Amino acid sequence: MSFTPTRSLVTGASSGIGAAFARALAARGSDLVLVARREDRLHALAAELHSQYGVTAEVAPADLSRSGIGPELRERTGPVDTLINNAGFATHGLLADSDLAKLEDEIHVDVRALVSLTGAYLPDQLAAGHGAVVNIASTASFQPIPGMAVYGAAKAFVRSFTEAVWHEARPHGVKVLSVSPGATRTEFFDVVGTPSAAVGRFQTPEDVVATALRALDARRTPPGVVSGRANAMTAAMTRFLPQRMLIDLSGRLVSA
Ligand SMILES: NC(=O)c1ccc[n+]([C@@H]2O[C@H](COP(=O)([O-])OP(=O)(O)OC[C@H]3O[C@@H](n4cnc5c(N)ncnc54)[C@H](OP(=O)(O)O)[C@@H]3O)[C@@H](O)[C@H]2O)c1
Repeated sequence: MSFTPTRSLVTGASSGIGAAFARALAARGSDLVLVARREDRLHALAAELHSQYGVTAEVAPADLSRSGIGPELRERTGPVDTLINNAGFATHGLLADSDLAKLEDEIHVDVRALVSLTGAYLPDQLAAGHGAVVNIASTASFQPIPGMAVYGAAKAFVRSFTEAVWHEARPHGVKVLSVSPGATRTEFFDVVGTPSAAVGRFQTPEDVVATALRALDARRTPPGVVSGRANAMTAAMTRFLPQRMLIDLSGRLVSA
């Protein structure tokens, strides 16, 4: 059965995977609420979605690094039946050399905002007895990453958190899904500031969205999916390697 959302909120819709989610959901007939900081891009996408798919697309500019962002946005937008927690960014470098304020921001956007938004919008969906929450994790979630210690830990949190809430929401008919992309062709690596954070073959944002929608279309939506067969195999292999070897390998791959 095809997943047919009616009103979807997408964070990080100004670029990359988030913009691709917005287009794919609009193509399925969903109205959209578009969230990010770059308001001009959100307005351009909203106009495109309206003219191409005839849906209503609202723009809700927000800096997700701010505390209390979930209840604040829920108050501004009202309920949605689909929440895509996609906004996120990574930093690269040794912890001892890092800008600690930037690392805190990374945790606030990648982790705190995602929890706050899930907690703020999920009760409406549980009460309605349907809906979906998609949280974008990463293949970075499957092992510690020297050189990107905060990002790897943040995405491990996202995956673990999401898959626990999957269990809590399932009896109420609400689908909760973690999606773990590998290297994906977006502005992500411009923000990281180095291509050495990319491991493996690149996918497109549309590949990642297609993986997520296939999982949402399934009658029994799993707690999590990895996008791309090679990425899924690599993620599965991490379970069988000794921890010391796994960390050394990931440190060599990312810090090279
Ligand atoms: N690309 C990859 O290789 C890859 C791999 C695995 C996982 N991911 C994950 O996929 C998600 C989407 O990333 P992407 O690849 O599409 O990268 P991207 O093109 O850089 O997009 C990131 C989005 O997050 C938004 N964002 C960042 N900080 C924000 C803040 N403080 N407040 C509000 N919005 C903020 C950006 O919007 P504004 O700048 O306009 O605010 C932008 O729309 C992220 O969670 C990322 O960790 C990416």
